[in-house]
Amino acid sequence: MTDQDLYGRAKAAAAGAYAPYSKFLVGAAVLLRDGRVLTGVNVENASYPLGMCAERCALARAVAEGARPGDVEAIAVTASPCGGCRQWILEFGAERVVFMHGGELLVRRPDELLPDSFQL
Ligand code: THU
Repeated sequence: MTDQDLYGRAKAAAAGAYAPYSKFLVGAAVLLRDGRVLTGVNVENASYPLGMCAERCALARAVAEGARPGDVEAIAVTASPCGGCRQWILEFGAERVVFMHGGELLVRRPDELLPDSFQL
């Protein structure tokens, strides 16, 4: 699967987002090394800080399907990943993060998105 294909999966997923407060629909798609793709969407809540980003939703689905750090090849997202999601993406060791920024599809390594990161 190409990065463009993975981005297409994220874009299609965004239609299913639950974002009644911001109305900002986000989709994400995680590509596992074994070829499986798990999508995610942002899920907002009336108690605003409890909302979930699309990237974390997709990564949580992948974990529920058995994925662990090192199993993620790439993740695509229709928005620039927030700081917290960058930390999550780093944890799972993705090679590439594919995302739309300023009308351009960017491909970055997680450590480029979060340099000098916190690690235990
Ligand atoms: N959002 C994501 O889903 N991923 C990000 O990395 C950035 C922000 C969502 C959270 C919220 O539902 C909406 O976008 C507006 O901030």
